[in-house]
Amino acid sequence: MNTQQSSSNNSPFVSDLAAIRKRARQHVDKGAITDSYTADRETVIRLLNEALATELVCVLRYKRHYFMASGLMADSIKAEFLQHAQEEQAHGDLIAERIVQLRGEPDFNPEILAGRAHAEYVEGSDLRDMVKEDLVAERIAIDSYREMINYIGNKDTTTKRILESILAQEEEHADELSDMLDGWIGS
Ligand SMILES: [Fe+2]
Ligand SMILES: [Fe+2]
Repeated sequence: MNTQQSSSNNSPFVSDLAAIRKRARQHVDKGAITDSYTADRETVIRLLNEALATELVCVLRYKRHYFMASGLMADSIKAEFLQHAQEEQAHGDLIAERIVQLRGEPDFNPEILAGRAHAEYVEGSDLRDMVKEDLVAERIAIDSYREMINYIGNKDTTTKRILESILAQEEEHADELSDMLDGWIGS
């Protein structure tokens, strides 16, 4: 018995190693995407580009808030705004990287971003208003990530895992903003 035969017979998971090897070689131009990928790739890429737009708009809003923050509580809140801006940027990078792995193109076109983003770019009139608008945007992001995760299910576990890690951090952001509003002192 040859070794290839015995390894395919003994494995409880891999049904036909020879066929998997052959397919991998045939479709080598598809990069990381193999025939066992069962999600609708085009739809996943479209959803990821919407998430990318959302993240980029959030980066800009947090940056604006960071530079414009003033008043009694500005110092500590400024630091939060900056940290959130950096974390939203990191989310955007993760998403863009995944889009490329799926053989799509991440869209950074500024003319399209605002219309495609789920969250809005609201400048806010004062510090408290900024925090409130950021909380609204985080809550929108939380809902849309949860919907995406439910849609993707187990058909694309890598994308799902990325979105779940981002969702966890959006929940942390929302929690921090909510705590700020709860303990608000001053105007
Ligand atoms: Fe984010
Ligand atoms: Fe966030």
